[in-house]
Amino acid sequence: MIAKASAPAKAILFGEHSVVYDEPAIAGAVNKRAYITIKESEDDRSIFRAPNINFEAELLTREKKYSLLKGKPGIIRYILESLYRAHDHTPIDITLSSNVPIGSGLGSSAAVTVATLAALYRYHNVRFNKKSLAHDAHMVEQAVQGVASPLDTLVSTYGGMVYLSRNKKVEHFNVNFNVPFVVGYTTKHGNTGKMVKDVRSLKNRNPKIINPVISAMGNLTNYAKQAILKRDFNKVGELMNINHGFLDVLGVNTLELSRMVYNAREAGAIGSKTTGAGGGGSIIALCPGKVEQVAEAIEKDDNVLKIHFTRKGVSSRVYK
Ligand code: MEV
Repeated sequence: MIAKASAPAKAILFGEHSVVYDEPAIAGAVNKRAYITIKESEDDRSIFRAPNINFEAELLTREKKYSLLKGKPGIIRYILESLYRAHDHTPIDITLSSNVPIGSGLGSSAAVTVATLAALYRYHNVRFNKKSLAHDAHMVEQAVQGVASPLDTLVSTYGGMVYLSRNKKVEHFNVNFNVPFVVGYTTKHGNTGKMVKDVRSLKNRNPKIINPVISAMGNLTNYAKQAILKRDFNKVGELMNINHGFLDVLGVNTLELSRMVYNAREAGAIGSKTTGAGGGGSIIALCPGKVEQVAEAIEKDDNVLKIHFTRKGVSSRVYK
């Protein structure tokens, strides 16, 4: 029997960092996916392979351990944690293929976790629904990372755009926001934990300045939700530019991120901002009619990915 599942990566459009202080956030599934295939092993070993990144490891699923056969670990801890929770430890072969570049800031770990759990549930004929899957995948991320917001795993499970409200209520908006975006990313990775900590200490040192900025970021996210629902792209772009300024105030932008943001605007993007934790990592630019120009401008110094938001969430099936 073969079980297959895939899940989309995500991009945060509004609300990174301010979401940590219970302000709202908006993120959406993008048309880049992680694909997992699970089948019985031909011998008594469990093997994980990710041919795209030239990675292979033998898994000791009961002990949450692995021995490296080739490549660099990275995503392996999410696979092991998922197996620990949803597998009976019989020998299996797991293959990951993905068109989400590592370091692109599109949350590849959530996409891989959601796809792995969905494939495992199919393989073992375990009943699940999107709510239970999103919950279990969030538990896996939390176990691996220590802290994780539920946003990434929600988006990778449900697809579409997700609005997380001030009181952590999740709203899936039924909107067709199918406009082209360009994601630019640097080879320098940001460290999310460190960036969140740095923002907290800046806030503690300057509460009267930073607190109003964080609450303005929340208001901005609410305006952005209205603009997205009305498909008012110019307003969305304007709010992305303001949001980038606020992220600058919080100190998470870097020379490389701001270079990509301004290169994108010079080349015709109607809005561009850092996406995710910053300190390295990625930017996102809204560029209807100007995708090629914006991609070319960023590509001079950095890496690019053309994306659009999609309603398609997790999908899985089993072949007997
Ligand atoms: C990182 O992708 C987003 C942050 O807001 C952290 C989080 O929400 O967990 C910076």
